[in-house]
Amino acid sequence: MPLVTFYLLFLVSRIVSATDTITQSHSLTENQTLLSNNQNFQFGFFTLPINSTNRYLGIWYNKIPAQTVVWLANREKPLTTGVSAVLMMNNTLILHQNNSVIWSITPARRARNPVLQLLDSGNLVLREENDENEENYLWQSFDYPCDTLLPGMKLGKDLRTGFDRRVTAWKNEDDPSIGTLSWGMDVTNWPQQMQRVGSMKQHRRGSWNGIDYTGRPTIRPSPVFEFKYFADEEQVYFMFSLVNSSVKARMVLNQSSYKLLHLAWDEAARGWKVYGLLPRDFCDEYGACGPNGNCDVSKLPYACDCLRGFRPKSSKDWNEMNYQGGCLRDKPLNCESDGFIKYGKMKVPDTENCWYLNQSMNLEECREKCLRNCSCMAYTNSDIRGEGNGCALWSGDLNDLRVQPDAGQDLYVRVPASELDTNNGDKLKIGIAVGGTIAAILGGLLLTLYFIFIRGRSATMKKSAAAVVDHFKEEEQEDDLELPLFDLSSIVSATDNFSINNKLGEGGFGPVYKGILENGEEIAVKRLSRGSKQGVKEFKTEVALIAKLQHRNLVKLHGSCIQDQEKLLVYEYMPNKSLDLFIFDQTQRMLLDWSKRFNIICGIAKGLLYLHQDSRLIIIHRDLKTSNVLLDSEMNPKISDFGLARILEGDQTPETTRVVGTYGYMAPEYALDGNFSVKSDVYSFGVLLLDIISGKKNKGSHRQKDGKNLIEYAWNFWTEGRPLELIDEYIKECCNVSEALRCIQIGLLCVQQNPHDRPNMSFVVMMLGSEIELALPKEPALFVGKYSCQEYSSSCMNDAPSVNELSISDLEAR
Ligand SMILES: *[C@@H]1O[C@H](CO)[C@@H](O)[C@H](O)[C@H]1NC(C)=O
Ligand SMILES: *[C@@H]1O[C@H](CO)[C@@H](O)[C@H](O)[C@H]1NC(C)=O
Ligand SMILES: *[C@@H]1O[C@H](CO)[C@@H](O)[C@H](O)[C@H]1NC(C)=O
Ligand SMILES: *[C@@H]1O[C@H](CO)[C@@H](O)[C@H](O)[C@H]1NC(C)=O
Ligand SMILES: *[C@@H]1O[C@H](CO)[C@@H](O)[C@H](O)[C@H]1NC(C)=O
Ligand SMILES: *[C@@H]1O[C@H](CO)[C@@H](O)[C@H](O)[C@H]1NC(C)=O
Ligand SMILES: *[C@@H]1O[C@H](CO)[C@@H](O)[C@H](O)[C@H]1NC(C)=O
Ligand SMILES: *[C@@H]1O[C@H](CO)[C@@H](O)[C@H](O)[C@H]1NC(C)=O
Repeated sequence: MPLVTFYLLFLVSRIVSATDTITQSHSLTENQTLLSNNQNFQFGFFTLPINSTNRYLGIWYNKIPAQTVVWLANREKPLTTGVSAVLMMNNTLILHQNNSVIWSITPARRARNPVLQLLDSGNLVLREENDENEENYLWQSFDYPCDTLLPGMKLGKDLRTGFDRRVTAWKNEDDPSIGTLSWGMDVTNWPQQMQRVGSMKQHRRGSWNGIDYTGRPTIRPSPVFEFKYFADEEQVYFMFSLVNSSVKARMVLNQSSYKLLHLAWDEAARGWKVYGLLPRDFCDEYGACGPNGNCDVSKLPYACDCLRGFRPKSSKDWNEMNYQGGCLRDKPLNCESDGFIKYGKMKVPDTENCWYLNQSMNLEECREKCLRNCSCMAYTNSDIRGEGNGCALWSGDLNDLRVQPDAGQDLYVRVPASELDTNNGDKLKIGIAVGGTIAAILGGLLLTLYFIFIRGRSATMKKSAAAVVDHFKEEEQEDDLELPLFDLSSIVSATDNFSINNKLGEGGFGPVYKGILENGEEIAVKRLSRGSKQGVKEFKTEVALIAKLQHRNLVKLHGSCIQDQEKLLVYEYMPNKSLDLFIFDQTQRMLLDWSKRFNIICGIAKGLLYLHQDSRLIIIHRDLKTSNVLLDSEMNPKISDFGLARILEGDQTPETTRVVGTYGYMAPEYALDGNFSVKSDVYSFGVLLLDIISGKKNKGSHRQKDGKNLIEYAWNFWTEGRPLELIDEYIKECCNVSEALRCIQIGLLCVQQNPHDRPNMSFVVMMLGSEIELALPKEPALFVGKYSCQEYSSSCMNDAPSVNELSISDLEAR
């Protein structure tokens, strides 16, 4: 199931002229298109978004069912009036509508017989009729990229004219005008690719080192893309070509995820498959560790270290993992007597501070040159092919360093002589630092527990409460009551007066009953426990807001009922009840084979993604678990109980927010200090995923017989290199091993200790649906504390563990 990135467009049916060229006496009207000779691309008019009145002139893939636009002429100025537009071609291109010019180009040179042609590459060119030499084009669309780079397009700068070809993202999927995310070539001494958000550097792809860009994490060639680089006195550019030229592939900047995607069309799956996305991890974010800091993802959450001879600018910030301030020189340099420390496997620093580049020097000459100049801070080979060659020198701060274990190159950093031979002293320092860190963690934990102990059940809420954002509240309140209000008497009779026989289960907020309305429709009624803080009006508003959240992986809320102290929510009825009744049951579990389970995992991920970012509200579920995933008659998953905390508590300010959730599924930062965020939901999703694969419950802090919980099990199998042993024995035979392995890895990525390391749901969906390389998971968060109460019972919801149930051995187990 590769990820399908669509630009959905509505294309009016039209007569496609089977030509790729217009000549001087012709023009292009809204009912015509040009078709490239190989039929891969079309050029013409389309509307965006679907069925809107905004019309654009541009180029899109012809044979791909999901319309994918690669270039637009009038991206900043859509055609809107009813009057149809015409593209006139002469020695100029003029798009006009109702006698006003919408877009135009005027090349510097004129042709005697100009023709406009859509080439097989997707390039639209204006040229002299009998001259097909690329150098002589009067104008070409490849020189004006939008958000997409196609094979053969140049990204970079013409040094003679200053003309700069950059890619800029669309504002959003409905608006192709220029967004804030851009990608281009910075022309310094040693040119490098840079991604920016506005003017801020976001991600540095690095400089060409003879083999690849220094930021590329691996030296393995890509199965699809071949990266190229060209530099001389006249121009500097990046370009890519394809390993197999009949594959359709593109690179596109995506504003909503702030990433550059490498995509190729998968004919079998009829979708765009992701082969790469940048930035990929914490250390890929520009300057993650600040000036003179070195980033190493394998050490997360303590990913940053100062270079030898440097110390954190602010040790307080550094201890709180705010690394952006970076590091300062510990001891002054001496100049003549200084030496260099070698760092292997490095992405070289931002070349903005690279002051010298010479492609013919060798390493020894390079070292000499650096040593002689007291402001030279580091050197490296500029070309690492063979023995290495060339010389690049830096002055000032060394920015945006990271370790690249599977690629990277040697970097030599200047230090005073006293730092050169201090192995013993270093070990001592490290010892102190590690000891100090452990003490700090222990201290922090005890403080947290003290808080919980003293403050009882009102867990503290911190900044992540701000993650609950309500974009549209004011307008919504006007039209909030379209939602049906059910009459209490009809529900009483539908549920046989809340008969115990009709009871489906008991969730965190009250029992659920099955009911049959008079018209025969089956419903599920949640009878909310009466302690809600909300007034009737607020309650109705919240219910109406939540009911607007509709997605095929969410249980549909039909309506509510408020009468005589009762607050009821009426949902669609799910005949197959909840997921836990299948995967944890000896016989029922056999009904869920691997493909069903994988479908369920993907469905839950999509439902949660919708709650987190695709709906009009941002909803953090806070209690995602197997019993909150219901199954329809075809075993499609639907998430239930979303938005309930909101319905009952209203505005989630710190004072009013309780910890609602289920131990075992709750992220430690939420369980311990009430910090919930989309990332605590991601943690719960990770546990849920491992539940589904293993068929074992994560019993929270209940230990299995040998004292391990599910996450520990999974982690142990993973680190011992036998992850497949986690898989439920009932599905082992038939399961798709590579899918299952990916799922286990994704599950472990979701339960990582540091919330920042956990992927967000859009990335999870992307990872599930494509074959992009996955990061290696760091050690998971294991909830400490021997907490005991009946799992999933409501008495579990609000209790925090008390201090004396914790022991030091639990802490060590982390
Ligand atoms: C396209 O539309 C123009 C008017 O907008 C009309 O004159 C022309 O005949 C149409 N061409 C075709 C091929 O339908
Ligand atoms: C666009 O309009 C057509 C005809 O009015 C309709 O059938 C179609 O469902 C609409 N598509 C969308 C996505 O709104
Ligand atoms: C095209 O350009 C030529 C030369 O400038 C001019 O004489 C002619 O009128 C133009 N034709 C159109 C259709 O604009
Ligand atoms: C076309 O332009 C004329 C004059 O500029 C204007 O009066 C008229 O409203 C325009 N028509 C449309 C449909 O925009
Ligand atoms: C960015 O990616 C998301 C998710 O894949 C997609 O829904 C969206 O349309 C893309 N945005 C643009 C502007 O292409
Ligand atoms: C190249 O791609 C095409 C279309 O995807 C495929 O049919 C063909 O087998 C590929 N050729 C090679 C050498 O992989
Ligand atoms: C590069 O280094 C070589 C060897 O040191 C030297 O001969 C040459 O002049 C240098 N080139 C430049 C442009 O500095
Ligand atoms: C020493 O390095 C600085 C850059 O920090 C450079 O501007 C200067 O020209 C260098 N001096 C010599 C003699 O190369």
